Amino acid sequence: MSAPASIPDTALVLAMSLDGKIADVQRGAARFSSLADLAHLEQRVAAVDGVLFGGGTLRAYGTALPVRNPHLLAQRQQRGQPPQPLQLVWSPSGQLDPHSRFFQQPIPRGLITTAMGARSWDSEQFQRIWVMPESRTHPWDWPWLLAQLKQEGVQTLALLGGGTLAAELLRCRCVHAIYITVCPLLLGGFTAPTPVDGPGFLAAVAPRLQLLSWRAVADEVFLHYRVLPPYG
Ligand SMILES: NC(=O)c1ccc[n+]([C@@H]2O[C@H](COP(=O)([O-])OP(=O)(O)OC[C@H]3O[C@@H](n4cnc5c(N)ncnc54)[C@H](OP(=O)(O)O)[C@@H]3O)[C@@H](O)[C@H]2O)c1
Repeated sequence: MSAPASIPDTALVLAMSLDGKIADVQRGAARFSSLADLAHLEQRVAAVDGVLFGGGTLRAYGTALPVRNPHLLAQRQQRGQPPQPLQLVWSPSGQLDPHSRFFQQPIPRGLITTAMGARSWDSEQFQRIWVMPESRTHPWDWPWLLAQLKQEGVQTLALLGGGTLAAELLRCRCVHAIYITVCPLLLGGFTAPTPVDGPGFLAAVAPRLQLLSWRAVADEVFLHYRVLPPYG
């Protein structure tokens, strides 16, 4: 099966320790990358119509990354995009903290959830709520959901983690590119999150990548890969 054509162009964007962890064993916010990486992340966010992250990531950070750089804001305006991309959270349970700073940020918010998960939320907190039909949640039907997003104008999507959500989209062949910043530290830990968690892939059928570009800035390495067909 190849990637569905009717879904947004989707890039996974992550910062990782040299030993392949995206946070430490406490699974809190990952704040180990440099200012150069934060600027790179803001660029990726500024480039897209929508940003998607998991509930675990929102619980860890409590905020989303808005576009602040005036140059990037001007570029969005020139492209006819709204100032901020839609910030989409995936949370089947809908159990998110309504007091987190995320809900005070001046950004458009969306929730992808189940009928049960949608119950506690209204249009003040999330301007758009996508409820996945129960029949499409075992396993979660991402191609169907992403096609809905594309129909509503999300042509490009930055997938900002965490490892559980990234594994979900990779399982469904819905990731086209990967930006990974390799950061100069070692985090270790059996239970620290990695870029792709979930049940894993057997090597014979694992997603394969093609390196498109790399650059080193001080002690960090910025990698850009394309996910190869027939997988990507
Ligand atoms: N370094 C980086 O670039 C980077 C980027 C993003 C995140 N992170 C780190 O990644 C960590 C969060 O990643 P994560 O993988 O825990 O969460 P996640 O991928 O952000 O979100 C996972 C979501 O999956 C849902 N889910 C459904 N089935 C699940 C299952 N069997 N197990 C777990 N979740 C399931 C949960 O929904 P419910 O809401 O219903 O529970 C949860 O909200 C944090 O430590 C964060 O700092 C690092």
